[in-house]
Amino acid sequence: MSYITTPIYYVNGDPHIGSAYTTLVADVFARYSKYKGEDTFFLTGTDEHGAKIAEAAAKAGKEPQAFTDEISAKFFAAWKELNIQPDGFIRTTNPKHKAYVQKFLQDLYDKGHIYKGEYKGWYCTGCEEFKTETQIGENNTCPIHLTPLNEVAEEAYLFKLSAFETQIKEALNADTFKVSPSSRKNEVLGFIEHEGLRDVAISRKNVAWGVPLPWDESHTVYVWVDALLNYLSAADVNGPEFKSGKRPEFPPTLQIIGKDILRFHALIWPAIILAADLPLPKELFVHGYFTSGGQKMSKSLGNVITPGELIGRYGVDATRWLLATAVPFGADGDLTLDRLDERFNSDLANNFGNLFSRVASMILRYREGRVPDGIEVPLLHIEKTRDFLDAAYESADLTKVTDTLRLHADNFNKYIEDEKPWALAKTDQKKLDEVLANLAENVFVLACFLAPFLPEATDKILAGFGTSVSQVDYATLGKANHTAGKTIPPLEPLFPRLAA
Ligand code: ME8
Ligand code: MG
Repeated sequence: MSYITTPIYYVNGDPHIGSAYTTLVADVFARYSKYKGEDTFFLTGTDEHGAKIAEAAAKAGKEPQAFTDEISAKFFAAWKELNIQPDGFIRTTNPKHKAYVQKFLQDLYDKGHIYKGEYKGWYCTGCEEFKTETQIGENNTCPIHLTPLNEVAEEAYLFKLSAFETQIKEALNADTFKVSPSSRKNEVLGFIEHEGLRDVAISRKNVAWGVPLPWDESHTVYVWVDALLNYLSAADVNGPEFKSGKRPEFPPTLQIIGKDILRFHALIWPAIILAADLPLPKELFVHGYFTSGGQKMSKSLGNVITPGELIGRYGVDATRWLLATAVPFGADGDLTLDRLDERFNSDLANNFGNLFSRVASMILRYREGRVPDGIEVPLLHIEKTRDFLDAAYESADLTKVTDTLRLHADNFNKYIEDEKPWALAKTDQKKLDEVLANLAENVFVLACFLAPFLPEATDKILAGFGTSVSQVDYATLGKANHTAGKTIPPLEPLFPRLAA
């Protein structure tokens, strides 16, 4: 099974473009996997406990549960608006999740992985993180949130993270727990090398909004432990139930996160799994930040572009494509509307959109909408493209995927320029049949390949051919002809060019 996850997002503010990005990218991987016919579960959700959320609720003048209900629903709706289709949306305030967390920690406690001690150090509520020396900015501030850190000295239960150092290092080195891009793996290994793994607090004494520790109810579970366990509780028979009626199988095959939460996912998370004698996730992919004027775009810094703004400007499909291609997958990048406009015109209006409408209109003009039949269309290059896409998805190289799709459309726009069907219409009907049949099949296949990114456009194009993506077996792309003899109606421009 393919089990794909995103972080579960804090409900201290509305969904923003960073969380939209991660969730969209995960949706693309999940849709691709499903289209290939793999049993797939895509999980996302919201992280609802802890001091940060309690403070946000208090500021809004609401009870924490009512507050988190409200904001969590906004995340759910925002993903729906982006045509993101998770198989499960998990909330940490779900009673079944809470019961799982208690049972899981009781188990670790009974096995001797947890002991009572004290936590002393600097805490950032924005990150919900105890900072080590190298993570403390000038004048004891958080380098991410640029706000003062809190000095904390409190009784806490600690998890023996240090005991798993060797095992984690080995799994990272051997890629049995693959952290990618490799620069991120090296970053984690470097951290272990320089600072070593120290035991971590898994409980908070003075945070009421959380899951009580079953053996000492004067503590609540540290919000990060509660949150990480979502990936496990979702897969447990007694865990939360999902509307899809499905349940993932542990371990995850692909976990996508932003670089801000690398250490939690590459160190604490595998250690918790190992302590419970469970198998490690296959791959953790760490993407970069969207920045605005070079600074991280974040709820806390208030410099965000909202997903709603983008949908209003470009429509749902185009927003999906623009987000997916906004930065090279894994790297940081500045996001500006000017640049997105340019990309809208170059990729969507001029490249994909233009190809689709040109081909439809030529078949209409020269062959009354009927794709020439009985013509051998060269399928080998389609098969090659498919293999190339498969390899790119397999190595979680989303940028290679989108580059390949662009190239396919580029090639066929050039092919039209080279073959000049409008000239052939006057001189060579047989050759014109060949060119049109080839274009029809390639446009059809490209529409299928684009389905994970542009589900609505794909639907429209395939509906024109009298079919839908769920009826087209992925394995037949590049192996069989899907368009010969089909009659296609005219196609409205899918992505009208934006005025400069
Ligand atoms: O950290 N650019 O939740 P969170 C790209 N609840 N991605 C961004 C981004 C940006 N500027 N800002 C946020 C938490 N993200 C925890 C996670 S998981 C067990 C618990 C994305 O609401 C990115 O995926 O702060 C980042 O890792 C995540 O949102 C952090 O979301
Ligand atoms: Mg954050």
